[in-house]
Amino acid sequence: MRKINKIACIGAGYVGGPTMAVIAQRNPNIDVTVVDLNAIRIAAWNDADLTKLPIYEPGLDQIVAEARGRNLFFSTDVESAIDQADMIFISVNTPTKTYGKGKGQAADLKFIELCARQIARVATTDKIVVEKSTLPVRTAEALKSILHNTGNNVKFDILSNPEFLAEGTAVSDLQNPDRVLIGGESQEAIQALVNIYATWVPSERIITTNLWSSELSKLVANAFLAQRVSSINAISELCEVTGADVNEVAHAIGMDSRIGSKFLKASVGFGGSCFQKDILNLVYIAKSYGLQEVADYWEQVIIMNDHQKIRFADNIIKTLYNTVNGKNIAFLGWSFKKDTNDTRESAAIYVADHLLDEQATITVYDPKVTAEQIYADLDYLGTRTSEENRKLVKVVNDPYIACQDAHAIAVLTEWDAFKTYNWKLIYENMYKPAFVFDGRNLLDKKQLNEIGFQFYSIGQ
Ligand code: UDX
Ligand code: ADP
Repeated sequence: MRKINKIACIGAGYVGGPTMAVIAQRNPNIDVTVVDLNAIRIAAWNDADLTKLPIYEPGLDQIVAEARGRNLFFSTDVESAIDQADMIFISVNTPTKTYGKGKGQAADLKFIELCARQIARVATTDKIVVEKSTLPVRTAEALKSILHNTGNNVKFDILSNPEFLAEGTAVSDLQNPDRVLIGGESQEAIQALVNIYATWVPSERIITTNLWSSELSKLVANAFLAQRVSSINAISELCEVTGADVNEVAHAIGMDSRIGSKFLKASVGFGGSCFQKDILNLVYIAKSYGLQEVADYWEQVIIMNDHQKIRFADNIIKTLYNTVNGKNIAFLGWSFKKDTNDTRESAAIYVADHLLDEQATITVYDPKVTAEQIYADLDYLGTRTSEENRKLVKVVNDPYIACQDAHAIAVLTEWDAFKTYNWKLIYENMYKPAFVFDGRNLLDKKQLNEIGFQFYSIGQ
C-alpha cells in the first residue's frame, strides 16, 4: 500500500485553502503544505490574526487555528513543496479564456500546464498528481503527456478528485460531503487518496470512477444545479405576468420527491466562479465534437441567467419613471451569495453596470466585500474609466448610510442581517416614494408594504 506522508497543494484559493485545512485537520499524521505564487495571499493565510485569512468561510478560522503550524503550512516555496510531496493537488484557477480560440467559452488551462511543467521539472521521486480544479474532460490526458515526457524516470499517477464544496458552506460541505469522487487508472493511487478521505468520510460516500467520468461529472453537477436556477428564474418571469407566486410554485413542485426542494430559489441570477465557467466549458466541448444541439441546449442556461440580471435592472429603471439619471440606488450586498466575500460573476456587478450606463449613482454596502474589490470588479468590465466608476459608485460600511437619501434600494445578496434592519428608519431617510427591489426574495413583503415602501420582488 502506498503511504502518503506529505501532501503539497498548488493554489491557496477558495478551493485549495479550505480543502487542505480540513484534510490536515483530519489527518494529523500527514504534513500538508499549501503553496501559491501570490505572496500576499500566503502572508494572509499565515497571519496570526485569524480575521485576516484571505477567504471568509464560517468555521474556517478554527480549523486553521487547530492545524496550522502542526501539520498545515502555507508557503510561497512551490518547488520545495513539490519536491518533498508524495501527493500533489493542483488547485489553481482555470478561468474562461479571454483570447484566441475558444475565447469566452473554453477554460484557460495555462495555469494548469505551468504547474504540470513545474512538477515535471522539479520532481525526483514518484508522485500522485491530483486534479482538484474544475477542468474540461480529458485534461488529465494533457497532464499525463506533459508529466510522462520529462525523461527523469519519475512515475506519475494522475487522479481526478473534483471539489463539490459550495462557498459560504465550505467547511460543513467538506466535513460532511454528500460524496467524494475519485477518478483514476491506478488502483494503488486511488486507494491512497481514498484512505485520506476515509479518516472522516463514510466509505459508501467515496465513489471511484475512471478519469473521464470524474472530470465530466464535475461539469455536469454544476450544469444541472445552474439549470435549476435558470429554470425557476424563467418561471419567475411567467409568474410576474400571470399573478402566480414563484415561491408558492417552487414549494409545490419541490414537494415532489423526484424534483426535490433545493436549488429552487428564484433570484436576480446565479453568480460565482463555477456555474457560468463550467457550462461554457461544457458548451465548448460539445461544439468541438460537433454536437451543436447539445451545446445550444446548455447555452440556454446562461442566456436565461443574463436575461434575469438585465431584467432586474430594467425593472428598476422602468419603475423609477423610466429614468435613473442622477438618482441614487442603494445596493445591499455585492458578493455572489451570502456568507462569502467572493464576488466573481456576482449578479450585482452586471446590475450595477447596467444602471451606471443609465447614469444612476450607486452606494454599496456589503458586510464582507471591500471597496477595492467592488471597484476592481467594475473596472474589470472596462465599460468606463476607473475614475468614472469611483465618481458614480460609493462604498460605505454602514447600511443605514447606504440607504440614506436613496431613491431606491436593490437587494443583491441574501445576507441574513438585512432582514433584521430597522426598515422604518430606513424608510424615513429615503426619497419618496421609497422603492425596494428585492433580488433575493429575502425581505418581508407585508412588513415593508405596511411601512410604506413600494416593494418589488422576483416572481411575485
Ligand atoms: C457551486 C456548486 O454548488 C458547488 O458544488 C461547486 O463545487 C462550485 O459551484 P458555489 O458557486 O459556491 O457552488 O455556490 P452555490 O450555492 O451553488 O450558488 C451559486 C449561485 O446560484 C449563487 O449566486 C446563488 O445565489 C445562486 N442560487 C443558488 C440561486 O439563485 N438560487 C438557488 O436556489 C440556489
Ligand atoms: P479557486 O476558486 O479555484 O480556488 P482562486 O483564484 O481562489 O481559485 O485560487 C487559485 C490560486 O492559484 C490563486 O491564489 C493563484 O495565485 C494560484 N496559482 C495559479 N497558478 C499558480 C502556479 N503556477 N503556482 C502556484 N500558485 C498558482
